[in-house]
Amino acid sequence: MAFLKRRPQGAEVDFDHLPRHVAIIMDGNGRWAKKRGLPRTAGHAAGAENFRTIATYCKDIGLEYLTVYAFSTENWKRPAEEVSAIMGLLKKYLLEAIGRMERDRVKMHFFGDLTPLTPELRELCRRTEEISTHYEGCQVNICLNYGGRDEILRAARAFARDCARGEKLPEELTEAAFDGYLFSAGVPDPDLVIRPSGEIRISNFLLWQSAYAEFYFTDVLWPDFTKEELHKALAAYQGRSRRFGGV
Ligand code: IPE
Ligand code: IPE
Ligand code: MG
Repeated sequence: MAFLKRRPQGAEVDFDHLPRHVAIIMDGNGRWAKKRGLPRTAGHAAGAENFRTIATYCKDIGLEYLTVYAFSTENWKRPAEEVSAIMGLLKKYLLEAIGRMERDRVKMHFFGDLTPLTPELRELCRRTEEISTHYEGCQVNICLNYGGRDEILRAARAFARDCARGEKLPEELTEAAFDGYLFSAGVPDPDLVIRPSGEIRISNFLLWQSAYAEFYFTDVLWPDFTKEELHKALAAYQGRSRRFGGV
C-alpha cells in the first residue's frame, strides 16, 4: 500500500489486513447494456474493460489472489452469436494483455476445461500463463468454461485413475490431497466471494473452495462495479467474524 500516494476514498478499508484471495462472479453485463438500449455484447465489452481496471487495482493494493468467473460450463446455452462475441472479446483481451505484460506483471492462470475453445484461444491462454509464470505479486485466475461440479468430477476421476494404476490408495484422499486435483491446486481458498448484479446464488462457482468464504452481494451491475464498490465489499469483509466452526 505504501506505493499508493494516498489512501483511497470511500468505505474504510484496512489495507494492511486485506483478504488473501478475493473471487468475483462478474455478472450483470447483459442488464447493464439493456438499461442503455445497447446490445448485450456491448455489456460484455464494458465488463471486460472493468475486469482490466479492477484486476490492475487489486495488484496495486497488494492483493495476493483474484479469481474471476468469466464463462461458465452452463454459458454455452446462450445464443451462438453471444457466445462467439464473448470469445472474440476474450481473444482481444488476451492479445492486449500479452502486449502489456511486461508493464502490468500480473500472473495469469486459467481454471476450467479449455479444450472446447478454438486452438487459437487455447494457444493465447497457454502463452499468457507461460509468459507470466515468473511474475511475483498478484495472481489472477480466470475461470473459463469453468463449473464447480465439473471441477469436482474431474478431480474424482483423476484420483480414481491414480488408484486404478496402483499409485494411490483410497485412504490417502484427504482434503489437502483432493485440493491437488482441482484447477485451483496450490491456490488458497477464497476468503471473500463477491457477486454483483443482484442475484443471490453461487451459479456453480468454486463449490469446493468456497466452503468457508465470506459472501458479499450487491445490486450494482458488473460494468459499474468500481474501486469504491470493491472498497465496500472489503470493508464489509473486514467487519465479519470468521469462526470456521469454532467459537
Ligand atoms: C455475465 O453477465 C457475463 C457472462 C455470464 C458471460 P451476463 O451476461 O450474465 O449479464 P446478465 O446477468 O444477463 O445481466
Ligand atoms: C454466472 O453468471 C457466470 C458468470 C458470471 C461467468 P450467469 O449469468 O451465467 O448465472 P445465472 O444464469 O444467472 O445463474
Ligand atoms: Mg448473468
